[in-house]
Amino acid sequence: MSENPSLSNLLKEERRFAPPAELAAQANVTAEAYEQAKADRLGFWAEQARRLTWATEPTETLDWSNPPFAKWFQDGRLNVAYNCVDRHVEAGNGDRVAIHFEGEPGDSRSITYAELKDEVSRAANALLELGVRKGDRVAVYMPMIPETAIAMLACARIGAAHSVVFGGFSADALATRIEDADARVVITADGGYRRGKPSALKPAVDDAVSREGTTVEHVVVVRRTGQEVAWTEGRDVWWHELTQKQPAEHTAEAFEAEHPLFILYTSGTTGRPKGILHTSGGYLTQVAYTHWSVFDLKPETDVYWCTADVGWVTGHSYIVYGPLANGATQVMYEGTPDTPHQGRFWEIVQKYKVSILYTAPTAIRTFMKWGDDIPAKFDLSSLRVLGSVGEPINPEAWIWYRKHIGGDRTPVVDTWWQTETGGIMISPLPGVTEAKPGSAQRPLPGIAATVVDDEATEVPDGGGGYLVLTEPWPSMLRTIWGDDQRFLDTYWSRFEGKYFAGDGAKKDDDGDIWLLGRVDDVMLVSGHNISTTEVESALVSHPSVAEAAVVGAADETTGQAIVAFVILRGTAAETADLVGELRNHVGATLGPIAKPKRILPVAELPKTRSGKIMRRLLRDVAENRQLGDVTTLTDSTVMDLIQEKLPTAP
Ligand code: WT7
Repeated sequence: MSENPSLSNLLKEERRFAPPAELAAQANVTAEAYEQAKADRLGFWAEQARRLTWATEPTETLDWSNPPFAKWFQDGRLNVAYNCVDRHVEAGNGDRVAIHFEGEPGDSRSITYAELKDEVSRAANALLELGVRKGDRVAVYMPMIPETAIAMLACARIGAAHSVVFGGFSADALATRIEDADARVVITADGGYRRGKPSALKPAVDDAVSREGTTVEHVVVVRRTGQEVAWTEGRDVWWHELTQKQPAEHTAEAFEAEHPLFILYTSGTTGRPKGILHTSGGYLTQVAYTHWSVFDLKPETDVYWCTADVGWVTGHSYIVYGPLANGATQVMYEGTPDTPHQGRFWEIVQKYKVSILYTAPTAIRTFMKWGDDIPAKFDLSSLRVLGSVGEPINPEAWIWYRKHIGGDRTPVVDTWWQTETGGIMISPLPGVTEAKPGSAQRPLPGIAATVVDDEATEVPDGGGGYLVLTEPWPSMLRTIWGDDQRFLDTYWSRFEGKYFAGDGAKKDDDGDIWLLGRVDDVMLVSGHNISTTEVESALVSHPSVAEAAVVGAADETTGQAIVAFVILRGTAAETADLVGELRNHVGATLGPIAKPKRILPVAELPKTRSGKIMRRLLRDVAENRQLGDVTTLTDSTVMDLIQEKLPTAP
């Protein structure tokens, strides 16, 4: 991405929000942390590692003698589950609630750290009884229920790596992942509740493990919905029958800091999914530190809620490992935000007095579309920090989030990271940073990130290019499971000695970083680089637009032409006038070059189950091609609706 004078003033976002004085005065982290970490980066991380309880304290912080294969804290030994559970009980906090579980049908259950310790110990003993040993892999295919976290911690406790597969994935996707990791056991449930009804999980597992040459010896089934399940004697076993008979005592063995903790698959744009490998000591250090610093967590008083699914890395790092390592009290919600009504999230915030909320831009834009009056019906005054993750947050969505959810009072932290980075890398700090809507702003203390051009040269302030990470970090992926070469090729070969994140980014005049979406989401229009994110944000800043997805479609004259799909707000009428107005609005905001050639109002946008817009499919539509693979869409009928619109499009 070369620098582009005509567009170098994109995102002329000038609103600024200082940290609330009261929060700043008592913040966990002050501006000095940046200085301290800059002066001695490894010393800084060695100090953060002391948040954990080690059976053997590490003496070496980083071994980078064989880059990019990092070893953090390698002579240290610890047990991750002990750190997330037992030590809080030993410190006298056994009665503190670890998880307030809220089921979609309205059932709820609060689990203290003492109870969690017993449950995790029983589950660990159960896995041992099934023959699972240190170094084995266990697949977890579950709804959002406490047993999911318990299963993960039980694996960690005995040194088996878990591979959580999102419960919305198909039997094929599950089978590929089981096979790639050679999992011996699958932990699943009969089903979970989604959109007001039980949604089965067991049939997909039965299908996935019935394939030739499967490595799976046992399927452990949690009873959640009570629905009928097919049963294979000898292979299948009920979670409750297996765990209830186990002792609640299990002595956690300490493992090496670099012992594998989990594999999590992330879909590549091409080819097989990549099994991202995370290990123990460095990973836990960074997720604990970032959860404490970025959300200003006070474990004694805060109620934290991350709305992600445990099947994504956000759930691993900021539902299971970070919050539990910190002894936090959190809410876990099973279902969808509109069941049984569109105020469900706000009802939950009110019920548990949630003080820290972490969600995704796609959810925020959906709430905007549903209307301001819905959150206004609930008492959200307990909230004090709001977080966002998953994709760039449009400034208007950021402002809406702060205003309508945060009461115009709470800081919003826009956190950039990836499955591969394991933990948050770039984010404001709520008690330190003067926030800019739409920008993740600065690498956290101890993290080195910058923006480079095609030649790997760092761009000056005001310039744009590719986001890179220039120093190793504790929670970095260690490799792609079984494929070191792919690890090198994917992340470390684009720019010598630097980690290539695959995201476009720019630095503003203060040196703050703005993420512009995946590199393949950058359009080239008449020789100008324009990011889909910027055009989308411009569209969403118009009062008639609730959501927008922008793609570049092949164009004979301009190379690519900008095509925008927009969801209008409730009252806006879909007229040629409005379309013209939107084009002019983008032109006025970003410059004439960024005016979409076509704007198509649609009812829905195609999204993956993790909430990312599938621009690839929209590009197929815009270029009149047959649609590519739609199997990872949450709702594949969305594409039919969009295609029906096309003939009448202006
Ligand atoms: C990609 C990683 C991180 C957990 C959830 C997604 C995009 C993520 C932001 C943000 C702009 C963001 C990037 C990144 N992304 N957070 N705050 N601002 N973009 O994990 O599925 O591995 O996706 O999500 O494009 O590369 P993931």
